[in-house]
Amino acid sequence: MNPDAPIRLAVIGHPIAHSRSPRIHTAFAQQLGLSVDYQAVLAPLDGFAATVAELRTRGWRGCNVTLPFKPEALTLATQASPRAQLAGAANTLGFEGDTLWADNTDGIGLVYDLVAARFALSGKRVLLLGAGGACAGALAPLIEAGAAEIRIHNRSPDKASALVERHLPLARRHGVNLKTLGQLDGGAVYDGVINGTSAGLGGQALALPSGLVKPGGWALDLVYGPAAEPFLSWARAQGAQTRDGLGMLVQQAAEAFALWTGQRPDPTPVLEALRAEANTA
Ligand code: ATR
Repeated sequence: MNPDAPIRLAVIGHPIAHSRSPRIHTAFAQQLGLSVDYQAVLAPLDGFAATVAELRTRGWRGCNVTLPFKPEALTLATQASPRAQLAGAANTLGFEGDTLWADNTDGIGLVYDLVAARFALSGKRVLLLGAGGACAGALAPLIEAGAAEIRIHNRSPDKASALVERHLPLARRHGVNLKTLGQLDGGAVYDGVINGTSAGLGGQALALPSGLVKPGGWALDLVYGPAAEPFLSWARAQGAQTRDGLGMLVQQAAEAFALWTGQRPDPTPVLEALRAEANTA
């Protein structure tokens, strides 16, 4: 193999034109002085596995995976990380000889971003809203970060129960009190609230009571841009510190980049650049 050839990487999704991943990974490569060719690849809805196979054959080192292919990505793996198995989905694939490894860096990206924001997790009471794919990706790393208590509330309670059930052994190992929460009551018991529902993406606001989060607590939405606004403006009205999901996006990318290249970029300047671009757009 030509040692001067760029490291070839990609993000595969459907749709894909909106993806910030090429921008983020190109910035990481520049920061570390690495030659990286990172492309956005649109896969047909019934052609994800074939698209992965083609990149692999053509010498790609790995790829990120976004909607709607994350669960399918996990099924292609010959080796899957425990956090990807618990999530039931992979956002990062790597190709090394006969091995196709799968990982999920979304949740650890969230935890790193909470640390960067100085939103305390360890020993705290945390409420997670939603029980879909985004929440499934986040839960294991949240447990491992040592929250005292995690409650999961979802519009469809059965999905919250299934998510809790699957994570109970991990929660017990880490001494985390993990349960579902049926009714949302104000009572200011939560130090932090994470919105992992897709309500904002559909232009809907969640019906949340006042006093859910402690004054001076924190709230984070897993999405960014206008979709995060309904939840974050509710949280600001509660006196909470707020953060959108852009930091998590950059942090999950940094973790994937480190898995592929063995070198960890500094996410902070890349996040600052993205925020500056958003403000001038
Ligand atoms: P994603 O991959 O973005 O997580 P998903 O797996 O479809 O998407 O999950 C969407 C989550 O947002 C679910 O928890 C969903 O609740 P249901 O399980 O009851 O469907 C939640 N959600 C979406 N729209 C919502 C709304 N208007 N109010 C409350 N919850 C909503």
